[in-house]
Amino acid sequence: MAPAPTTIARALCAATRRLREAGIESPRAEARLLLRHVTGLAPELLVRERDRVLVADELARLEALVARRAEREPWAYLSGEREFWSLRLRVRPGVLVPRPETETLVEAPLAAFPERTAALRILDLGTGSGCLLAALLHEYPNAFGVGVDRSAEALAVAAENLEALGLRRRAALVRGDWGTALSGPFDLVVANPPYVASGELEALAPEVGRYEPRLALDGGPDGLSAYRALLPDLLRLLAAHGLACLEIGAGQAAALRALFAAAGFTVALRADLAGIARCLLLRRAARP
Ligand SMILES: C[S@@+](CC[C@H](N)C(=O)[O-])C[C@H]1O[C@@H](n2cnc3c(N)ncnc32)[C@H](O)[C@@H]1O
Repeated sequence: MAPAPTTIARALCAATRRLREAGIESPRAEARLLLRHVTGLAPELLVRERDRVLVADELARLEALVARRAEREPWAYLSGEREFWSLRLRVRPGVLVPRPETETLVEAPLAAFPERTAALRILDLGTGSGCLLAALLHEYPNAFGVGVDRSAEALAVAAENLEALGLRRRAALVRGDWGTALSGPFDLVVANPPYVASGELEALAPEVGRYEPRLALDGGPDGLSAYRALLPDLLRLLAAHGLACLEIGAGQAAALRALFAAAGFTVALRADLAGIARCLLLRRAARP
């Protein structure tokens, strides 16, 4: 007897089962996402067309995606995109998937520099997908920005994103070690450095630890190595009236406040939507 054709309903059941077995937290919701991605159907149509038979190409693509997701590859790498600050960004392996909490590093400058027409000089250290640079250039239409990364793959993605958003002409992308190759001054410096302690990398969710670039995650023995490395660049590159906004990990605020205060910065903190101190705001301390 020929096997029953694979309808949307059957495919949804099979994908849900496979993802559940793989330990995915919301297997049904994710199976629906994968089916929508493959069929292009809106959520309500997925229900209405539950008896539609998938064509061979749809079925093959769905099976490939389910297999990858069951291996715990992040959804953003499968779909090839992620929204950040309401901007649709491309992502792929080799670049960190932008996180919602990183939007705190857009909110903080917007509060500090409310004049949107300001011709700010912006520096984004460790630009990755270019998410922060893109969001800030989008918000400040007269600003110019420099994005730095050590990863050529990340810079390629950042360039694609800036181009797609019509921001490329207001940005320079530089391959380098934090700000060492640059001269300032910059009005605004943002950075989301790697801040996971090396010993904690093994405990990360498989989606993160297995797939996202180590260069974007590994913050050295205590998670703070990158902050120490980029501190001299901030001292050299930040304008007298400038602001630096650095993303920090949960529980790192006290140690980093002490580090930057000792170097002569005034330090403030901004929490993310979960109430976690997420952004370190640095200004040069006023001279007596
Ligand atoms: C946590 S990711 C942040 C990416 C992006 N800014 C974001 O918020 O999603 C850190 C980035 O810093 C880059 N990076 C790591 N070490 C670096 C270094 N020494 N100099 C420049 N970039 C570096 C990584 O390649 C990665 O893209």
